Amino acid sequence: MCGIIGYVGSRSAQPILLDGLRILEYRGYDSAGIFIPGSGVCKAVGPIDELVKVCTDTSTGTSGIAHTRWATHGQPTEANAHPHHDMSETLWLVHNGIIENHQEIKEGLRARGVTFYSDTDTEVLVKLIGTFHQGNLRQAVQAALQVVRGAYGLAVMYERDPNTIVAARLGSPLVLGLGNDGNFVSSDPSALLAHTKDVIYLEDGDIAVLTNDSYEIISQRGAPAKRVSTTVDWSVEQVQKDGYPHFMLKETHEAPEVITNTARGRLLPEAGNVKLGGLEPILDRLSNLRRLHVIGCGSAYYAGLVGKYILEEYADLPVEIDLASEYRYKRTYPEKHSAILAISQSGETADTLASLQKAKQQNLLTLGVVNVVGSAIARETHAGVYNHAGPEIAVASTKAFLSQLTVLALIAVLIGRQRGLSRTDGQDIIRAIGDLPNLLRTTLGLEDQIKEIATRYHTYEHMMFIGRKFHTPIAYEGALKVKEVSYIHAEGYAGGELKHGPIALLDADFPVVALAPYDDVFPKMLANIEEVRARQAPTIVITTADAPEMGTLTSDTLVMPQTHPIVQPIVTTLVLQLLAYHIGVARGHNVDRPRNLAKSVTVE
Ligand code: M6R
Repeated sequence: MCGIIGYVGSRSAQPILLDGLRILEYRGYDSAGIFIPGSGVCKAVGPIDELVKVCTDTSTGTSGIAHTRWATHGQPTEANAHPHHDMSETLWLVHNGIIENHQEIKEGLRARGVTFYSDTDTEVLVKLIGTFHQGNLRQAVQAALQVVRGAYGLAVMYERDPNTIVAARLGSPLVLGLGNDGNFVSSDPSALLAHTKDVIYLEDGDIAVLTNDSYEIISQRGAPAKRVSTTVDWSVEQVQKDGYPHFMLKETHEAPEVITNTARGRLLPEAGNVKLGGLEPILDRLSNLRRLHVIGCGSAYYAGLVGKYILEEYADLPVEIDLASEYRYKRTYPEKHSAILAISQSGETADTLASLQKAKQQNLLTLGVVNVVGSAIARETHAGVYNHAGPEIAVASTKAFLSQLTVLALIAVLIGRQRGLSRTDGQDIIRAIGDLPNLLRTTLGLEDQIKEIATRYHTYEHMMFIGRKFHTPIAYEGALKVKEVSYIHAEGYAGGELKHGPIALLDADFPVVALAPYDDVFPKMLANIEEVRARQAPTIVITTADAPEMGTLTSDTLVMPQTHPIVQPIVTTLVLQLLAYHIGVARGHNVDRPRNLAKSVTVE
């Protein structure tokens, strides 16, 4: 939520900041702003394109800070857009996060004559910093941060010292970029790739002082801190649309390559096993696990639900699953020989992070399936597996979800082989994972057919997705994807639940997408499809090549490749992602930036 970028160096700052904001736009897009010492501030409501229109000053300033906002406090107006300034209008601040005690601080400041022009917690923060500022910006920031409660990734500049940016992090992500002609600060390394791949992930409590040729980090304890720099292995091309009309389509089309990258070097076909370096040090503990608790939010939670089915089936491991937004508040019963596994693309999701921290306090072994290397969740876990899906820019998760399912299948084999999964069964799964990129290529070949179906269904206002067993969570995910990018009211249900209530909704205006690959629950799905058709609900059936003739049961049938049940959900999901994409586009929406959403939910 919210993206910030800052630059101090020898090049013109404005294009660097605007280009960076475009890349960070997925983090929030209701308003944006930029501050360049010497040129001042410009702000605009709406996407970055609106900001570009108003930032007409051909500034030659070589430093500045910028922000793209996802509103938490106050409407998306120009007054609420960042950067915000202090009473002297010389200190400017961009902030990602929430200052929980802003109201209390605001009242205290008001009593001292401080006035406010916006509804934001960020203005309170910069005004507080202003009250401490006597020439040393870092000390003023440090003093103010001792007063605030909440989460922040922030960057501050003092107009009269354009060669310095002070940045601080607690809870919200922040990364420094070390370049040849200047230094950077950003919410996300993807915005820095065009300039540098050398980055330092700040730790919670860190305050950094950046100049054009130096940086200094002070830890929470107030002492200078050494932080190791790492090289980001993402490329600039990965954060560009590369000729596609939307990132969502590009990222969906990357599926074969993503699965290749997720599986690279991890498959042991002969042994019917996998090698997951990140879990090797705890392999013994994994073999002896009595229970695994999985947490995640949104699509990551649905990936976890699939994980529950496959870990129980193939690894003989009892799994419990919770939404991270619930787990953190509920009473939990940490058991000996149990562990918690957090699933997160961004590695930033506030509820997932808080749940992990809770589990850690209860002495549970913490594991992660995370895409963003070095992210907060990755660093909070004892061990884990990176997805290697590359940067995901579209707000709706596509390729990352597929890679999460792949990692979960790998983990099922790893643990399964310790707990009774035979070598032959392991070999079958490894073969299926190895073949998956090709099957996904074939699946992408269905796009014209999917698009044609989307064109006929995009005007409905409701949709239901049904599936069974491994495909129940995929029905939830299919419904979520349609909701996010088309704003159609969509519901996901286990097929067996239909008769317990939801079938009452169905009529000729309520289409159903039935996920019916040829597996052990196929006959049950066929029965569901008949029930649905009997209510005149238009039906899209997604099935597999091996399924027996579907006869006249269906209105629209998509036949995808058949594979091992453990990875079949990956193929089905790709079909659903394309369906949601084309429905969203047919309805005229910007599918990359759905209303009211942001990519990373770093506030609770
Ligand atoms: O970064 P995370 O995987 O932790 O994000 C979790 C959810 O916010 C995310 O999956 C969300 O539901 C997506 N918009 C789904 O497309």
